[in-house]
Amino acid sequence: LPEVLVYQDGMNAQDLGKILHREPAEIIKKLFMLGMMVNQNQSLDKDAIEVLADDYGIKSQEKETVNVSDIDKFFEEEEQNKDYQAPRPPVVTIMGHVDHGKTTLLDYLRDSHITAGEAGGITQAIGAYQLHHDGKIITFLDTPGHAAFTEMRARGANVTDITVLVVAADDGVMPQTVEAIDHAKAAQTPIIVAVNKIDKAGANPNHVKEQLMNYGLVPEDYGGDTIFVDISAKNGTNVDELLNMILLQSDVMELQANPKQNGAGSVIEARLDRGKGPVATLLVQQGTLHTGDPIVVGDTFGRVRTMANELGQDITTATPATPVEITGLNGVPEAGDRFVVFNDEKTARTAGEERAKEAQLEERKQNNRVTLDNLFDSM
Ligand code: GTP
Ligand code: MG
Repeated sequence: LPEVLVYQDGMNAQDLGKILHREPAEIIKKLFMLGMMVNQNQSLDKDAIEVLADDYGIKSQEKETVNVSDIDKFFEEEEQNKDYQAPRPPVVTIMGHVDHGKTTLLDYLRDSHITAGEAGGITQAIGAYQLHHDGKIITFLDTPGHAAFTEMRARGANVTDITVLVVAADDGVMPQTVEAIDHAKAAQTPIIVAVNKIDKAGANPNHVKEQLMNYGLVPEDYGGDTIFVDISAKNGTNVDELLNMILLQSDVMELQANPKQNGAGSVIEARLDRGKGPVATLLVQQGTLHTGDPIVVGDTFGRVRTMANELGQDITTATPATPVEITGLNGVPEAGDRFVVFNDEKTARTAGEERAKEAQLEERKQNNRVTLDNLFDSM
């Protein structure tokens, strides 16, 4: 037996058996004798573990852990490192009611502003891309759906600077239009309204303006400060004007980041690829991400093995507001998870492993928690 049982809240009989050099069955038996009926996977709270140590005649001490919130603090510090600031491109999300033309607009933008200048017709590989307009860069996140947008925000990832609200001029304000307004307001992003489908016979852009005033979106020609652009995503009418307005809005916001620090940002999406293993689309929000960087992403970690842009082309560095697809992680993180680069692989590994353990313990606690308090209820 060790002199002191160094434990973590939420450990189970198996974990404790390892530390105490005892079979889990013995631990379970002892707990039973102490009045606690558990199986070897059930997590135990502090009190139960201390009673057990006491019964073994040894001291107990809770282990100091790098807890998840500490690392969250670290993320925030990385994000707020203001030593050096440089302008960065805006990150734009397009939202709106079903069938109002979000995908058509994104497709038009992509076809007219990315693939045209590249080796023609390469299909977009990831759910985000950058396009060039007027010598400047704009990052578009492929509309993740309202639910995903909210989910990401709930996980602490505020990735969008500007929301483009697409409203079809022949349909007007619909339930999901209102939802999108609520999401954008909650995220405190400015809204630019793209009144779409103005090429259609029944289009009535003025009606859309009047409707939106009820939601606090007042156009400039009515004395407000919301930018409206009448467009046809299908024909491309006024789409350049929309881009101008996005850049104008972003100039006003004076968006900045420090490209000289370690890379940090958020997961846009992630999946397991048969050949490549875990693949994550990241949005760099601070610093510069390099291939080879030791990285912690949510509860996963690794080294950035490969990094590709939206066209699937290999790149080696990514500056703020750049979306990239990376490989090299030991697991699949979740959308909205944050990532940060560490100076050396050992620290990244330690932090990553601690985070994974914490997350596992946390999940176990949620699932099957046995405490001295609820013990009697269950018997
Ligand atoms: P969801 O992804 O289902 O929410 O829809 P969406 O907002 O992405 O709409 P989508 O781009 O799929 O467009 C819906 C329909 O409207 C398609 O048939 C488009 O061709 C048509 N459409 C989109 N924009 C325009 C436009 O500017 N003019 C006209 N005439 N049709 C358009
Ligand atoms: Mg769509």
